[in-house]
Amino acid sequence: MQVDIGNALAAEADPGISRDALARLDEDVARAHDRIATGRAGEEFGYAALNLPERTDAAEIEATVEPLSDAEAILTVGIGGSALGAATISEALGGLDTEGKAADAAPLYVLDNVDPAHVREILTEVPLDRTAVNVVSRSGTTAETLSNFLVVREAMEAAGVDWTERTVVTTGEAGPLRELADRHDMPALDVPTGVPGRFSALSAVGLVPAAIQGHDIEGLLAGGQRAAESLAPSLFDCPAYAYGAVSYGVAQRGADINAVVPYAERLEFFAEWFAQLWAESLGKDGLGQTPARALGATDQHSQLQLYRAGPRDKLVTMVRPRERADRTIPETDIEGLSYLGGSTLGDLLDAEFEATEASLAAADRPSVRVEIDRLDAECVGELLYAMEAACVLYGELANVSTFDQPAVEWGKRAARGLLGGGEFEEAAAVADKTELV
Ligand code: PA5
Repeated sequence: MQVDIGNALAAEADPGISRDALARLDEDVARAHDRIATGRAGEEFGYAALNLPERTDAAEIEATVEPLSDAEAILTVGIGGSALGAATISEALGGLDTEGKAADAAPLYVLDNVDPAHVREILTEVPLDRTAVNVVSRSGTTAETLSNFLVVREAMEAAGVDWTERTVVTTGEAGPLRELADRHDMPALDVPTGVPGRFSALSAVGLVPAAIQGHDIEGLLAGGQRAAESLAPSLFDCPAYAYGAVSYGVAQRGADINAVVPYAERLEFFAEWFAQLWAESLGKDGLGQTPARALGATDQHSQLQLYRAGPRDKLVTMVRPRERADRTIPETDIEGLSYLGGSTLGDLLDAEFEATEASLAAADRPSVRVEIDRLDAECVGELLYAMEAACVLYGELANVSTFDQPAVEWGKRAARGLLGGGEFEEAAAVADKTELV
């Protein structure tokens, strides 16, 4: 993976970071790297996530899902960190929904939201008797996940399907989901201890669907390990830290928004995964950098206007694979279009990428280029790990508590209280604020 920070360093970039300021920041990066290394060595909460490439047992995951390898569809029931990693990996490797999926991979459907119309659509679409259900919840108590699972279970029972045989559970050591798995002797995998949901992509949480689809999960972990081995005490020697440090540096100078723009349809979920990682980890104590999601080249025809000419409060993160399967644009004699003929769609996408970068630079708007070699298991594992490490570094530099999410937990308690799931003062606060107009 390569990170090019040149367009965020340009003297004119506003908000940009100067080379001198970045060199000074590098001393903090060295200290943060030490802290991260200590946390990893002690398997401390959160930091332990950066050990997953070494710690995750791919063979155990493959053996656990083997009975479901005949599945014609996969249904992940989970939310937030318990769904986005799996969706990101499967999409990047070609296995999300029916669109753009690899020819022989069972498509992955994700049931995260509890919108009844969406749930109904999915249950109509998937062949329940030939679907592998992948229910994921670290706590085993998240209302959306458990409710959706109860609905799926009921639908399977109604279709005469033994759901205990078609479901694999991934959860923490204890909790209602673990009890359910034990009671029905269902295949179950652990959410590793010390790993917050949004940092768990390179564990069973993110890898089960890919394993059922026959993707190379060892390769994903090997790529993660490659990024782990590239962590170094200086941002100038470490692409992941360079990205984290520059993001932090420009945020200090007013880049309150980080617009992530992958130039690959198969990385659309990556932007969503990144948004959760960045927002939930760094949005603390009045600090943070709001992630915005976009897709190149599509959003050049909408959001780019704002990124180039709107408030000077953004960093644009441009992401692309260097190689891709390609298709030639047919020759044409239509006037004004002959320049397209003979080029490839990939050439065009790359030209769009570089044009956007140039357009931002010409308007003195900072951007960072993140490139992976190709969309294969190793490069995707490397990218996910590197962004997690970048996020942890940013959290250290900003001195926030990267690995908790009290605001998210507040909302969970409030929703539970409103549904009568206990006495939660948060629920009362919701009612207190009601003001009908
Ligand atoms: O990153 C996080 O901690 C959250 O996004 C959780 O993953 C999310 O709230 C789901 O929680 P759980 O896995 O306990 O169901």
